[in-house]
Amino acid sequence: MKNQKTIAMLTCYDALTAKIAEDAGIDYLLVGDSAGTNVLGYKSVNEVKLDDMIFLTKSVKRANTKCKIIVDLPFEAVYENSENIVLSAKKLLEAGADMVKLEIEKETQELLKTLTEAGIPVCAHIGYTPQTSYLEVSVQGKDAVRARKLVEFAKTSQLYGAQMLVLELIPANLARYISEILKIPTIGIGAGQFCDGQVQVWCDIAGFSEKTYKHSHLFADAKSALSAAFSDYATQVKSGEFPTEANSTLVDDEILFHTLCRK
Ligand code: KIV
Repeated sequence: MKNQKTIAMLTCYDALTAKIAEDAGIDYLLVGDSAGTNVLGYKSVNEVKLDDMIFLTKSVKRANTKCKIIVDLPFEAVYENSENIVLSAKKLLEAGADMVKLEIEKETQELLKTLTEAGIPVCAHIGYTPQTSYLEVSVQGKDAVRARKLVEFAKTSQLYGAQMLVLELIPANLARYISEILKIPTIGIGAGQFCDGQVQVWCDIAGFSEKTYKHSHLFADAKSALSAAFSDYATQVKSGEFPTEANSTLVDDEILFHTLCRK
């Protein structure tokens, strides 16, 4: 899709939102490990297990959309069980992934090579890489050393066979440079407007996050709408306003009479 159209990617963790995303014109669904903190109730993305990702991927796949599905290789698979990385990736493909995503730092570049040599389609991810706890949540590549490192990671990702590259929280002009020198599409999040596509965490753009991040935008306050609906429901159940006769069905009195008589 490079140089053909700008790719719209959005995170997705279940069949319900997958269908909404497809109808809205999203091209790629990212089953990100951000599910850990956004919907699974974990304190950190590093608590997400491979089994969690398999469960979420199956749910997204069941929506049967036209969207391509990219799935994160979670911390457990990358840092705690790296000798079985190909097996882990294959399990995600079996669950419904079209491509797996791998965060690239010094220690994971060789894993990318192992995966692509085994025929696994991989989307690499550079810049701010949440699984690497020693990096603070901050824009990466503002100094020359890290900027050079990111360019090196980008080139190595392509060389090692990545088919796509996510650029998270890097300066827009650096992201533009990387996008121009690579043949594979770049997908930015907090990486400016010059990437080949964009990805956002759906909870951030729909009002479910505690704050609006600089790299994001509040496209709708769906949390407030849901909250109002849940609250009206609870109030009406407790007051007896809901359900009404219109929400109920009656059995014929004669049938009810016979049922009671038989007892
Ligand atoms: O897990 C995720 O949602 C991600 C995106 C932020 C790119 O990796």
